[in-house]
Amino acid sequence: AMAEKAGYKHFMLKEIFEQPRALIDTFRHRVDPHGGEIILEEFHLNPDEVKRLKKITMVACGTSFHAALVGKFMLESLCRLPVEVDLGSEFRYRDPFVDSQTLLISISQSGETADTLAGLREAKTKGARSLAICNAVGSSIARESESVFYTHAGPEIGVASTKAFTTQLVSLYLIGLYLAKQLGYRQPDQIQQNLQALFKLPTLLQDVLDENRAIREIGQKYMKANNFLYLGRGIHYPIALEGALKLKEISYIHAEGYPAGEMKHGPIALIDEHLPVVVLATRSPVFEKMMSNIEEVIARRGRVIAVSESDNDTVREKVETTIPVPETSLELSPILLVLPLQLLAYHIADLRGTDVDQPRNLAKSVTVE
Ligand code: G6P
Repeated sequence: AMAEKAGYKHFMLKEIFEQPRALIDTFRHRVDPHGGEIILEEFHLNPDEVKRLKKITMVACGTSFHAALVGKFMLESLCRLPVEVDLGSEFRYRDPFVDSQTLLISISQSGETADTLAGLREAKTKGARSLAICNAVGSSIARESESVFYTHAGPEIGVASTKAFTTQLVSLYLIGLYLAKQLGYRQPDQIQQNLQALFKLPTLLQDVLDENRAIREIGQKYMKANNFLYLGRGIHYPIALEGALKLKEISYIHAEGYPAGEMKHGPIALIDEHLPVVVLATRSPVFEKMMSNIEEVIARRGRVIAVSESDNDTVREKVETTIPVPETSLELSPILLVLPLQLLAYHIADLRGTDVDQPRNLAKSVTVE
């Protein structure tokens, strides 16, 4: 078993460390590094059909749903189309408004999640065009979709999803750029810049992985807490949700992810000297707003763990603990920011001695309702 895990203690840790490689496998066959072109042979809508689209609807469950939420930020800003995101289990029963001018994007690592599959079928019945983002080749969702974009992350064994998530985000980025170009919102030189940023990402991911030991020590410091709060804004809000989900899935600590601006409408009541609050506080258009939220947490003696750039002294001087991340573009930053949260959840769970790869009550793929 140790050999299968390539020397890592758990599949989850191995899969976290595979992410720089997995990302490259997602994009390398789809980009021409010289011309800055994106080649999506798997996408079956012609340019006229793309121009006729009126909206994009994304359906997914669990971690894949969080990828869809990040995708909404990417696709709305790149393609200037309304993007709606729903959970498979909600979408399938609400008589959703979709038609032949809707592109239904289903996102699923396994391609077998019953609720996501049912959502895809429901949308197809209503005439929607369909595109699946899947990791498992030949899975049901892949087979039943008009177009399939494979993430090529390789098999994911740990129940808590890691490399499937970051490769889903890269997929959404490539799809967004591709559609934006067809719709005339991106010029070739802009696409080239966006791709250059993507090509740099695997190295930056490695820089975050190099913080592994420091993150374990941080885990040691906070592992006894009974509750955690995760805060983010904008495109980082879904990453707060994902960080909280990772922690609760494998460590069984209650954790909540929240959009930081909404804190005053509820979660602020929970803050005291026992509550670790993980904040995503890198430079972004809402950085100042995030700083105010950090101050609100500190004023109530919450223990702030900030994920921020290593040279971001504004944050570092304020908070109890900082996890440094390198700089990248706003659209790609979620991919970088989720890594320390995966590692933090992993180490806290491992230190508490839970069954990290097979957490109680959870399944890798939920093929029944
Ligand atoms: C289960 C897994 C999660 C996963 C979710 C959706 O809950 O434990 O890790 O995110 O299913 O799975 P999918 O295969 O559709 O991405």
